[in-house]
Amino acid sequence: MKILFVCLGNICRSPLAEGILRSKSKNAGLDWEVDSAGTAGYHKGEAPHHLSQKTAKHRGIDISQQICRQFRAIDMELFDRIYVMDSDNYEEVKRISKDLWKPEKTELLLNTIYPGENKGVPDPWYGDEPDYHIVFDLIEKACDQIIAVYGESKA
Ligand code: 4NP
Repeated sequence: MKILFVCLGNICRSPLAEGILRSKSKNAGLDWEVDSAGTAGYHKGEAPHHLSQKTAKHRGIDISQQICRQFRAIDMELFDRIYVMDSDNYEEVKRISKDLWKPEKTELLLNTIYPGENKGVPDPWYGDEPDYHIVFDLIEKACDQIIAVYGESKA
């Protein structure tokens, strides 16, 4: 399985999702490829936000080596599942993907745990440390569900 997480900046939410699912899939013995990207390029080449790094570290996950990159249309071909953090990300991924857009591959991350509710993962960019913990908890629940659903597929 090749899974891509997408948010706006690839600096707060999707790097946490990448680190969490990579760690959980590895611990489950799954040979999955996990990556993340932003629909905007403001932070290209940067490490994740220091509060995302701190929150992840507090839960035993090191995301300090991850590098911010921008979502490309070709990602729609390269990944099996693309999870976006909110509906703005969904529309941007659709726009950037152009002819390669595949709605069947793309899903709001929280629809994995709140089916059909179209909830977004709140953006902690203007928030404080507790907001990053709330985001971590939400993303962790969703990652557990992704493993429960796709964990049989070792590819
Ligand atoms: P993210 O949060 O999409 O979770 O990475 C943001 C990061 C940066 C900005 C906005 C949201 N920004 O405006 O630079």
